[in-house]
Amino acid sequence: MESSNFIDLYSGESLAEKYLKYRPSYPKHIAETIIDQLKKSGARQSENGKFSRMLDVGCGSGQATFGFSPYFDSILALDISADQIKMGKKDNKCDNVSFQQMFDKYLPVEDESVDFMNCASAAHLFDIKYFTEECQRVLKPNGCVAIYFRSIKSIMTIPVKPAPNQEELNLKLHGLNFQFLRSVGMHPSMEICERKYVPIFEQIPASSKVWLPGLEFFVEWTLKEYRHFRTTNGEYHKFMETNPPNDPLNEAMNNIKQLLNVEGQSEEQIKTRVTWDVPTIIFKKE
Ligand SMILES: C[S@@+](CC[C@H](N)C(=O)[O-])C[C@H]1O[C@@H](n2cnc3c(N)ncnc32)[C@H](O)[C@@H]1O
Repeated sequence: MESSNFIDLYSGESLAEKYLKYRPSYPKHIAETIIDQLKKSGARQSENGKFSRMLDVGCGSGQATFGFSPYFDSILALDISADQIKMGKKDNKCDNVSFQQMFDKYLPVEDESVDFMNCASAAHLFDIKYFTEECQRVLKPNGCVAIYFRSIKSIMTIPVKPAPNQEELNLKLHGLNFQFLRSVGMHPSMEICERKYVPIFEQIPASSKVWLPGLEFFVEWTLKEYRHFRTTNGEYHKFMETNPPNDPLNEAMNNIKQLLNVEGQSEEQIKTRVTWDVPTIIFKKE
């Protein structure tokens, strides 16, 4: 897999700017729960309680990276997109985090030099066979990998009161989201997200692989802020560059309003809680 085989959906300066502004970072408890797994796997901590080195592959502009900063002496954040790396560097306030563009399938680090590999909302774009081989090469004994992504679970108006048929509404929302993505030319790799990373789990050869259950988080946004979030999708951004006569996001937002029973109200006025599941796969150095 040379650089030309990368699935590059997140390059472009204006998309990278939007991505930094509107994609939510992962809250503290996500990193904490994952770090607990690293401790359990027996990775070595120095006297200050920190691990030595982490890689974040497919880091974007650091949405997951910065949350791990307290746990490591150094973190190298890698991405194929120069624009994403530029934004990450601009936003970086952590002395122990550095960003670097990657150009081919080989991770730019020595054998057995890394305690932990993080991969947030990016593995569906990877060649999993090469990626897992590289994980096994670069991880130290007892090191481990976390692969996860944000999967929208529900949108509820505030005050939050789950509907009696909430499960059904959540399924409808899932369907609507992928209907929108298909309308803007969804890349086939997104089918892996539609199937909640099950195809990645199946492809990982490590016998130590497990799902880490129960991870989720929410943000409280107006529906307008949710619209902004939706514009950070790579395929949508490219689609809109073709200057289509209609913006497909308008229909998608109307569908969501219908689902929430808030038709006729303005997006700025509708306060919601958006909850994401975080399907997470952990595996170890073997
Ligand atoms: C959806 S973004 C996720 C960014 C961030 N980790 C997050 O959780 O928001 C996926 C990122 O993976 C990068 N990417 C795609 N293929 C890659 C590869 N083979 N190796 C490294 N990064 C890759 C893209 O450029 C993009 O920045």
